[in-house]
Amino acid sequence: MKLARKDLLGLEGVAREEIELILNTAGTFKEVLQRKIPKVPTLRGKTAVNLFFEASTRTRVSFELAEKRLSADSVSIAKAMSSAEKGETLLDTVRNLQAMKIDFLIIRHPASGAPHFLASRLDAAVINAGDGAHEHPTQGLLDLFTVRERFGSFEGLRIVIVGDVLHSRVARSNVFGLRTVGARVTLCGPRTFLPKGIEALGVEIETDVDRAIEGADVVMVLRIQKERQDGCFLPTLREYAVLFGINRKRADRLKPGCLIMHPGPINRGVEIEPEVADGPRSVILDQVTNGVAVRMAVIYLLSGGEVEHGVVG
Ligand code: CP
Repeated sequence: MKLARKDLLGLEGVAREEIELILNTAGTFKEVLQRKIPKVPTLRGKTAVNLFFEASTRTRVSFELAEKRLSADSVSIAKAMSSAEKGETLLDTVRNLQAMKIDFLIIRHPASGAPHFLASRLDAAVINAGDGAHEHPTQGLLDLFTVRERFGSFEGLRIVIVGDVLHSRVARSNVFGLRTVGARVTLCGPRTFLPKGIEALGVEIETDVDRAIEGADVVMVLRIQKERQDGCFLPTLREYAVLFGINRKRADRLKPGCLIMHPGPINRGVEIEPEVADGPRSVILDQVTNGVAVRMAVIYLLSGGEVEHGVVG
């Protein structure tokens, strides 16, 4: 099977078969990553550029590792070290990268839609590594991979996403992905953090966190995005921690087997208490581990790579 698309810009509109193909391929690459030499020659001769206009630890490093594990040549640029600082436009920047014959552009940008704008203007495959409050598709995929790895399927699962949904590209990608694969999704947070009309995406809404997490199979905790709080969304972080934070008391009431997830970076003591983030239910670092395999799968499949009976070609 092949992925019949040039770019990965979001999980909205990505079919269930495509998501399953990516997750199955990631499973194969996860096995590669456990070998003594965790590397395959698959993308020798291909070039990837990671262009980050916002800070990142997990996404940027895991894309870089994914490219290296696939034997692609890889270059990373942060805005502060690029000619964008001298006023060069985004389109000029990427046209210059394209002139150097790149095959993949992985971009993180504060403007929603920036990867879409570039995708139609470039020959290179564009992968959205997070655009504003819009989407973060590879985070959504690695979250789905982590859930499926633990439960075997999405059948009958109820997943609760708690926090700053309004500003969260992670939440949006997870909603699109999880609904497509058939999971039940509840969004929970203060009213100011729940976008109007979000129910139209097939999710349930709950403003009481204790009611929301009762009986949940997975609690995904979102980061309070201090850098995007330019309105009056929250009285104080302390009040948020009391009313919505996933603390020890709340974690103790979760049903057996319920997983705690967080995309990172964590505001310890705000949306999640350290002992919960580091506790037995937490799969937060598994999410990070899985990110490399999932990003290898996305890059491999966008390069035209095929998978036959679970074997990459
Ligand atoms: N989850 C995530 O996108 O983390 P980074 O901002 O560190 O990449």
